Amino acid sequence: MAALIVSIGLNGCKQQGGSAADSNEIIIGEYASLTGTTATFGVSTHNGVLLAIEEANAAGGVNGKKIKLITEDDRSKADEARVVVTKLVTQNKAVAVLGEVASTRSMTAAPVCQQYKVPMVSPSSTNPEVTRKGDYIFRVCFTDDFQAAVVGKFAYDKGYRKAAIFKDMKNDYSVAFADNFAKSFIKQGGKVVGEQSYQEGDTDFKSQLNTLKAAGPDAILCPGYYSEVGTIGRQAREIGLNVPILGGDGWDSPKLVPGAGTALNGCYFSNHRFSRELDLPEVKAFIANFKKKYNEEPDALAALGYDAAGLVVDAMKRAAKLDGPGIRDAIARTEGFKGVTGVITLDKNRNARKEALILRIDGDVFRVEKTYRPEELGQ
Ligand code: PHE
Repeated sequence: MAALIVSIGLNGCKQQGGSAADSNEIIIGEYASLTGTTATFGVSTHNGVLLAIEEANAAGGVNGKKIKLITEDDRSKADEARVVVTKLVTQNKAVAVLGEVASTRSMTAAPVCQQYKVPMVSPSSTNPEVTRKGDYIFRVCFTDDFQAAVVGKFAYDKGYRKAAIFKDMKNDYSVAFADNFAKSFIKQGGKVVGEQSYQEGDTDFKSQLNTLKAAGPDAILCPGYYSEVGTIGRQAREIGLNVPILGGDGWDSPKLVPGAGTALNGCYFSNHRFSRELDLPEVKAFIANFKKKYNEEPDALAALGYDAAGLVVDAMKRAAKLDGPGIRDAIARTEGFKGVTGVITLDKNRNARKEALILRIDGDVFRVEKTYRPEELGQ
């Protein structure tokens, strides 16, 4: 199934050759993990991006020009992200770049966009450092100062007092999420009783899980990606570690539950404000249009890809000049953009303030347990 979607995505938009734009088209570059360890992130995001671009072109494009999307696969690798983004801006002459999902990859490629003065908009990288790479770097999602604080508050409000942390030590998102969670949980009166780490690609987590089990936590925070979290959940249950496991947006994948079996049933993770269960007209319309095009349900990544692309197109329509600096300035002025994942206003640090959800895993459905606004966390 995933392979089929990838090939549709590639046929639908990946362009051959490296020619610059003709004067009747505007080139937007996209870099995404269409294959590799986190392929569902890239494929979902790309499908959302492509839908937004097609809708924009059907509605007349930007000042009579059509948008051409050129998508590059970074194979879920940070070094490759830098290589393909360099190609997009130097060879393809993209005037804006969309990507990435994973914070580590966004942080690796951002300096290239900054150097060539091409604005980069990440749909979903949440590590605070991403947009600190320079004034050409934006995101349309919240940051982990907020997201991880939400999980810390939720955990404390649930009555957990002793938390253990199990993080991916090579993943900038996972490491910072763990720190921000600990700060929030401790501030409220909770205690972090143990901490262990793993690396992407590991398959045996039992020795760390045994150490965490011995610390006697009420819950375990595992802010990693779906690629490992499913296995971690299963192995935790196998060694008799049966406390709830908590996570963040990195769990959002149609592959999480198939990887975990029933191990994560009743567990919770934070996510962007998107769910089939939300009774909001913009969410319902997006889901219907997405299903019509792809014959499957979108996840939050698809919705964020759609919003990131839509926001860039909106900025292009307002830009004084359709070049990198002109589009950058228009993106920076974005106020009240009505996205599927919330209303987006970019602050002076080029970040968005948006609501977060806590979702509960119920079989293969992610149910909305709670919604948090930034103000509730004093942010
Ligand atoms: N927020 C994650 C990161 O910064 C990426 C992610 C976003 C994963 C949304 C899943 C869903 O690395």
